[in-house]
Amino acid sequence: MSIFVILGLLVCIEAQEPSAVTPVFVQKREDVLLNVTIADDPKEDIVTWRFNKTVNLVRFLPGNLGAKVSDDYSGRIELLENYSVKLKNLTEADSGVYTAVVSGDTDKQITGYKITVQDPVSPVKLSVDSVSNRPDWCNLTVSCRAQDSHINSTFRCDTHTCSQEGGERPQVTPSAADLHVYLSNGSIICNHSNQVSWTKDMKIIKHFCPRHAESDPAGLSVCLLKTAVLSVGLIIMVAAVITVHLMEKLKKRK
Ligand SMILES: *[C@@H]1O[C@H](CO)[C@@H](O)[C@H](O)[C@H]1NC(C)=O
Ligand SMILES: *[C@@H]1O[C@H](CO)[C@@H](O)[C@H](O)[C@H]1NC(C)=O
Ligand SMILES: *[C@@H]1O[C@H](CO)[C@@H](O)[C@H](O)[C@H]1NC(C)=O
Ligand SMILES: *[C@@H]1O[C@H](CO)[C@@H](O)[C@H](O)[C@H]1NC(C)=O
Ligand SMILES: *[C@@H]1O[C@H](CO)[C@@H](O)[C@H](O)[C@H]1NC(C)=O
Ligand SMILES: *[C@@H]1O[C@H](CO)[C@@H](O)[C@H](O)[C@H]1NC(C)=O
Ligand SMILES: *[C@@H]1O[C@H](CO)[C@@H](O)[C@H](O)[C@H]1NC(C)=O
Ligand SMILES: *[C@@H]1O[C@H](CO)[C@@H](O)[C@H](O)[C@H]1NC(C)=O
Repeated sequence: MSIFVILGLLVCIEAQEPSAVTPVFVQKREDVLLNVTIADDPKEDIVTWRFNKTVNLVRFLPGNLGAKVSDDYSGRIELLENYSVKLKNLTEADSGVYTAVVSGDTDKQITGYKITVQDPVSPVKLSVDSVSNRPDWCNLTVSCRAQDSHINSTFRCDTHTCSQEGGERPQVTPSAADLHVYLSNGSIICNHSNQVSWTKDMKIIKHFCPRHAESDPAGLSVCLLKTAVLSVGLIIMVAAVITVHLMEKLKKRK
């Protein structure tokens, strides 16, 4: 019976652990700040930054005896105030879980980060493969290429609006980035993105379907503005004419 309770507790502790780890994405060759806030300064305990539970990157010795940086990390770690450190120039091999541990009679994890190092995404090229332009509709097929993947999509425009056949269907590339083609403001956009970077290419639909381009809201507002300016001008002119007219009438009466 008590064995089950203990097992249950262990499962709970296991299940809780991921929530104590903050996911962080870092672009390759960039630095990351490993922050920690320790409530009461552990004067007699060792504070360690640990990688994947086995490698001790840096150990802060108790009693102001300084810090010991692991040989593998010397030159790549900058010690900051209050046990925080900066790990510099990350590579894919640095992806993993970093924890700050206070070691007294037992080990106590204070903070954890799950760091994922990503390359910036490759550029994309969006090309229009075919256009069929008819009086009442226009079809466009496009393809978007990134270094390790590509995606096709078809757009159909009638005289008012364009829509994407089958909707937006983002694709996950082999390098775990998103490749995504969609309509935006009268343009077809291809966006290649991951957590640390994105690249895009775009085509303006009007250039391929001149009679069918989506009426763009910006153009509309410019048109509205012109109308408003024109109306105000007209009102002022009419008012001026009426005023002059009235003045003349008044003068005649005198
Ligand atoms: C550490 O703190 C700094 C400044 O508040 C912040 O920019 C950085 O993202 C933090 N690092 C992590 C891994 O959250
Ligand atoms: C380090 O801790 C001390 C004492 O808690 C505090 O006064 C100081 O502002 C902290 N420094 C940083 C950079 O957080
Ligand atoms: C970062 O590491 C790479 C090797 O991974 C090295 O070629 C480069 O010079 C380093 N950059 C800095 C600023 O240390
Ligand atoms: C660290 O752990 C992560 C999984 O959390 C693993 O993907 C990675 O290969 C490990 N890195 C090293 C150097 O052991
Ligand atoms: C244009 O798209 C519509 C709707 O998907 C389709 O029925 C039609 O065959 C297409 N026309 C051409 C020439 O591809
Ligand atoms: C995309 O279109 C190109 C040419 O139109 C075709 O060769 C390719 O097989 C298509 N790819 C997909 C994934 O549909
Ligand atoms: C929409 O596109 C037009 C030009 O094609 C541009 O002038 C306008 O700023 C764009 N509007 C938005 C909201 O992106
Ligand atoms: C591309 O996608 C990324 C991630 O979703 C987003 O932050 C970025 O604003 C997008 N770029 C454009 C031009 O839509």
